[in-house]
Amino acid sequence: MASSVEVNQRIARLSAHLYPSNLQMEDSSSAVRRADCRAKGGAPGFKVAILGAAGGIGQPLAMLMKMNPLVSVLHLYDVVNAPGVTADISHMDTGAVVRGFLGQAQLDNALTGIDLVIIPAGVPRKPGMTRDDLFKINAGIVRTLCEGIARCCPRAIVNLISNPVNSTVPIAAEVFKKAGTYDPKRLLGVTMLDVVRANTFVAEVLGLDPREVDVPVVGGHSGVTILPLLSQVKPPCSFTREETEYLTDRIQNGGTEVVEAKAGAGSATLSMAYAAVKFADACLRGLRGDAGVVECSFVASQVTELPFFATKVRLGRNGAEEVYQLGPLNEYERVGLEKAKKELAGSIEKGVSFIRK
Ligand SMILES: NC(=O)c1ccc[n+]([C@@H]2O[C@H](COP(=O)([O-])OP(=O)(O)OC[C@H]3O[C@@H](n4cnc5c(N)ncnc54)[C@H](O)[C@@H]3O)[C@@H](O)[C@H]2O)c1
Repeated sequence: MASSVEVNQRIARLSAHLYPSNLQMEDSSSAVRRADCRAKGGAPGFKVAILGAAGGIGQPLAMLMKMNPLVSVLHLYDVVNAPGVTADISHMDTGAVVRGFLGQAQLDNALTGIDLVIIPAGVPRKPGMTRDDLFKINAGIVRTLCEGIARCCPRAIVNLISNPVNSTVPIAAEVFKKAGTYDPKRLLGVTMLDVVRANTFVAEVLGLDPREVDVPVVGGHSGVTILPLLSQVKPPCSFTREETEYLTDRIQNGGTEVVEAKAGAGSATLSMAYAAVKFADACLRGLRGDAGVVECSFVASQVTELPFFATKVRLGRNGAEEVYQLGPLNEYERVGLEKAKKELAGSIEKGVSFIRK
């Protein structure tokens, strides 16, 4: 049998592993110190990292991922406040083990061994700011984080939330190409919030439970590039011209609705965290090998002449294993598609040339 000294040494080693030095929080005043406690590893599952975990989206996203039974280890990385968020979330009595990482020097540790990386790092839109105004700041942040992914977990699935998604996904692709690690199936732009909003707003108009409604939203993730396919809504239904215009406009400008209502206090964070978790959970179910996991995402695509486009994709062990075609569009949607493609082409090019310049 191990002596108590050996046991204490073992526990101290385990504790140091679980809590990187700057996050170690010892309470010397209490009789039982953390180093004296037994730490059971998390339940079997996937290792997930959130980059930007202390932000408006990052915090509720971290909380919801800690509640996800498919997650065994949750790494929370940010350039500020990661220790506080980590300590807080780590007290939840769910299976996932939570570790915090603060600042660039700990990025590689945050990413090593990770299966799924979710990126909500960046600055959000302020009133009067378009998504493209965010470009310069967020493009640099996404580049740095993706360089870390290429170094430390090149096989991870990446869920990119940072705006403008229409440009940050091409930026990430270019970074991975440069590093020689690019796998188009593993890079997914998160457009789930557009789908979540579309389901909600359509359900309101139809008087249905939003959980019963499925609206495909294709194109991209900004203004007119967000194209809800109301002709393909499930359950099958029809809309008047007024309803179609109202719904399309509200879905395309849902982000602005929140930015204006928050009046300077940020953009969508809670609904975004919900949408990000819904999407991440679908990715994890795909990784686990579940059949028939289908969600919309902005990915490398041959559905149109553009190199990236959002459509429904089938998620599997390798990420977006199948990218679905658009299906039949009505005249209103065909016009919308042309507008969306025109704007998307510019945003994609902007992202690509940010890295290639
Ligand atoms: N895809 C979508 O549907 C969608 C929806 C809403 C918001 N967004 C975008 O998500 C991003 C985050 O929004 P938010 O409201 O949470 O913003 P926020 O400012 O509240 O949080 C951003 C977090 O990122 C962190 N950060 C900044 N630079 C970093 C770096 N180099 N490495 C790691 N972390 C870093 C910040 O410290 C902060 O904690 C924004 O770009 C926003 O536009 C996307």
